[in-house]
Amino acid sequence: MRSLHIAPHAKVNLGLRILGRRPDGYHDLETRFQTIDLCDELELREHPRTLRLRVEGTDLPSDDSNLVMQAARRLRDSNPGLPGATIVLRKRIPIAAGLGGGSSNAGATLMGLNHLWDLRLPEEELRGLAASLGADVPFFLVGGCALGSGRGDILAALEDLPSCWLALVLPGFHSSTPEAFRLWDARAAVAPDREEREGSLVSAAGDLSSAALHNDFEAVLFERFPVLAEHRDRLLRLGATAAALSGSGPSLYGVFDSEDTLRRALNDPGWGAVQRHAAAPVGRAAYRRRLGIPLSD
Ligand code: C5P
Repeated sequence: MRSLHIAPHAKVNLGLRILGRRPDGYHDLETRFQTIDLCDELELREHPRTLRLRVEGTDLPSDDSNLVMQAARRLRDSNPGLPGATIVLRKRIPIAAGLGGGSSNAGATLMGLNHLWDLRLPEEELRGLAASLGADVPFFLVGGCALGSGRGDILAALEDLPSCWLALVLPGFHSSTPEAFRLWDARAAVAPDREEREGSLVSAAGDLSSAALHNDFEAVLFERFPVLAEHRDRLLRLGATAAALSGSGPSLYGVFDSEDTLRRALNDPGWGAVQRHAAAPVGRAAYRRRLGIPLSD
């Protein structure tokens, strides 16, 4: 039986602007996605009939509510007559943390099963399936640094970042994306005009300044969870050149231009029991290599 070992990567958002509500209930936004070297493990093994998932390392459900199962089923539904697969997911990317773990798992499942089942689906079809699973899923078919617009699913690849180090801070609680958008909507009356904000990230390509990394969710989440602003300020005090919230949080990251400063910052006793990790951006070519899915797809 053929098998694949895949490494779904986490992402951070290098800046995020919410532009407004859409008639379909989603929000138009602009963000720069960046893959980082924090990974789950996904093992796909051919099975003649059955589709089965086992999850290790977390209490995440392994039934059809898991995005991995949803991705596999979506592929089978649109391509009748396919075999099954035994899937094992070992979680390391924190859940509901703003690091894209679930979306990355879904994207990796689509790409992995496309290869394992020898489907050779055109990129456009995979992209459509990915977008139907979640707004962030299409990014994981691309990786590296990319500008996301629309719901976040219209992508334009950007150049890889200059080399830098990241400190991830994981505050230890979950943040709900729909809830974060609701909090934003509740303040929408004070939001600046869409015209003023649109396009600000398009020219930001390699810009890692605090202004470029600004995330609109900070306004509402820092108010609701003041500890997040404290973490951001601590990162800056400890030498980060910029620090921001990732996605709808609650994870934060700091950007460091030296590995020494990064290590010292991570080891600072002021963090107490707060979980933190060293991470690095993963560029597009490296992402394709590290994923573990043969390039011929
Ligand atoms: O697409 P995904 O399932 O990841 O989105 C989760 C929820 O986040 C959506 O149901 C929606 O409430 C909100 N969302 C949004 N605008 C986006 C992305 C997500 O309002 N661009």
